[in-house]
Formats: sequence, C-alpha cells, structure tokens
Amino acid sequence: MDRIDLRSDTVTKPTDEMRRAMAEAEVGDDVLGDDPTTNALEERAAELLGKEAGLFVASGTMGNLVAQLAHLGRGQETIAGRQSHIVLDEAAGHAVIVGTSVRTLDDRPDGTMDLDAIRAAFRDPMDPHEPVTGLVTIENTHAHSMGRPLSVAYTAEVAGIAHERGVPLHVDGARFWNAVVALGVRASELAAPADTVTFCISKGLGCPVGSVLVGTREVIWRARRGRKLVGGGMRQAGILAAAGLVALRDGPAGMIERLAEDHANARRLAEALATMPGIVAAGDIAQPGGGPLDPGRVATNFVLFRVERERAGFLEAVKAGGVLLDGYPNGQVRAATHVGIGVAEIDRAIAAIAAALRATTPVALAGGVPN
Ligand SMILES: Cc1ncc(COP(=O)(O)O)c(C=O)c1O
Repeated sequence: MDRIDLRSDTVTKPTDEMRRAMAEAEVGDDVLGDDPTTNALEERAAELLGKEAGLFVASGTMGNLVAQLAHLGRGQETIAGRQSHIVLDEAAGHAVIVGTSVRTLDDRPDGTMDLDAIRAAFRDPMDPHEPVTGLVTIENTHAHSMGRPLSVAYTAEVAGIAHERGVPLHVDGARFWNAVVALGVRASELAAPADTVTFCISKGLGCPVGSVLVGTREVIWRARRGRKLVGGGMRQAGILAAAGLVALRDGPAGMIERLAEDHANARRLAEALATMPGIVAAGDIAQPGGGPLDPGRVATNFVLFRVERERAGFLEAVKAGGVLLDGYPNGQVRAATHVGIGVAEIDRAIAAIAAALRATTPVALAGGVPN
C-alpha cells in the first residue's frame, strides 16, 4: 500500500494534465522575455491578483528574496513576524543578500501582529543611529499559527500603517490560495492592499516547481533584476510555468477550488485526533493555553499538535504504519493535507496514529518544553 505523506503540501506531484501541458509547452528564452508560456503564467497571476505584472521565480524563498531586493536598499529594515518564514527559514537571505535587518514582532495566535506594535516598530528616519524602515511583511496563510488565514481587513490595516509612512507591504503568500479559499474572497480583494504578493504553485496547487511574485510593473522590473542577481534567470522556464497555468484555471479544471477539500480533510483529521488520549494542543501560537487539541483552530490545510510521547519514537511508529508526519518547531507535530490525500487516506492516517499511540510509552510533557 502507498505511504500517506502528510509532512507537507510540497510533496504533491504534478497531475497528468500538468505533465501533458509541460510536455507540449511552447517555450523560448525567458531571460530574453521570449518564453510565451512563462509570460502567460505571469500575466495570469497578475490578472488574478489584480496587479500590473508578475514574475515567475524558482521558489517561495526566491519570491520573498527578490521582493525584498525590489523594495529595500542596504541598511534598511523590514518589520516581520518573529515566527515568519522570512525570519526563520530563509537562511537569513535578508541579511546575506539584501543587506538589511529585520525588526521582529510577536506573531499572535490568529497569525497577525498587533497593529500598535507595528506602528511602534517604525524607526526614526531622522536619527542617524537607526536603520531606516523600508518594508513591512505579513505571511498569509500564517504557518506557525496552524495556517491561519489573514483577512482582507487586517491586510488593509497593515498596509494603511505602512503606506502612511511611505513604506510598502509585501505578503508572503506561499499559501495565499488557501487563504483565498478559506476566507471565501476574491484573490484580487485579498491582494489589493499589498504592494507585492508572492504565492507558490509548488505547494497546495500541486505544481512541481515555482512561485509567482506580483506587483506594479516598476517593482516587478526591479525584482526581475534581483532575480538575475541571485542567478534565478531561467531559460525555457515555460516547461515549469505550463503546470502553473493548469493550476490557475478557473473552476474545477484548476487546482484552486479544490483546496476546500484539503481544508475539510485537515478538519476531519483534527476532529479524530482530538478524541485520542496522548494527543494535546500544539501550544505556542498554534493553540496557546494547552489542553486538548481544538479542531476549531484548523482553518486551512495544517494540523499542528503535540503528543505525550517521545516525539521521535512516535513519528517512527506512525511511519511504520505507512504514514509520514513532520516534526515541527517547538516540539510540535504537523500534518499538512494536499491533493494527494483524500478522505480514505485521512482515515488510514487516523488509524495509524491511534496504533502508534498504543505502541509507544506515555510521557508527561513538561510545560512548553519541546521533546
Ligand atoms: C510561509 C512560507 N513562505 C515561504 C516558503 C518558501 O517556499 P519554498 O520552499 O518554495 O522556498 C514556505 C515554504 O514552506 C512557507 O511555508
């Protein structure tokens, strides 16, 4: 029987239709602007998010990096969540490549940062000691809070604060489409307040490679230079972009609408886990306060929890039952649903997790200490 891989939505494989589109893609040299399929993907992304232009990049990390290169100059500073991907998981690209610092603020259990804290985090541009605040970023969906989607109203409030000070807002929307579907809004509405948004096609949308950054023509031109600088200028990239065009189709022909199934499956998994002795709240911002796992926290395709077991042994026992889960920061365990996972796989995963709990020895979790 195939193993059930819930480690991440990045494990998805391209659909048959994507593979056909990739094989048949019309291509050219994209660095020269000659790749019609890449151009079409960039235009489609820009159109959907209501922006002037798009840029196809190799990864979500590169999307965030070239957005920072486009918005910031050396010695400037970004305001970002302490637990955001840009801060924790991008090899300090902001410092190493962009030459900037990050002013981190606490992320809250709903994935937001406090608006007054954002206001207070801006530096005094007249003080020569201080870095100059040049960018605000938010993450939507917000991974460490259990994939919480950030609303249009919140995005607009943060943008308002930033714009009042002449600073742009970038949205790390690696899972932007999960937010769109969970909130039931149009992508253009959710993107409207932001200056740039990047989204991954290689996660829940099921494509093999890539992300798209969208914004004004001018900012995207600067990002294109940044992409060249980091060696991200690809040639016949249309072979990859073709899968993205399949994913971004309207309705059931595309991969957006079906994200609702992933969200329902994540909720189904969480509801079952919540009844199992040994499974508890993820703690931290994913479910502060501890106690039993609350399935109501699941709004998109992530389930985060902790287990009253030695974690590595538990993950091994689940794996022996044919299911892969991810060891997440803070001693948490993550299950991410995606296009390869249906109701049957969720039910098999539930059974494998229950069996792994029975096969491993209970240990008490010391308050908040990762195991
Ligand atoms: C919130 C967030 N931003 C950015 C990225 C980076 O994407 P990539 O792995 O394609 O570089 C990820 C990847 O998991 C992510 O979760």
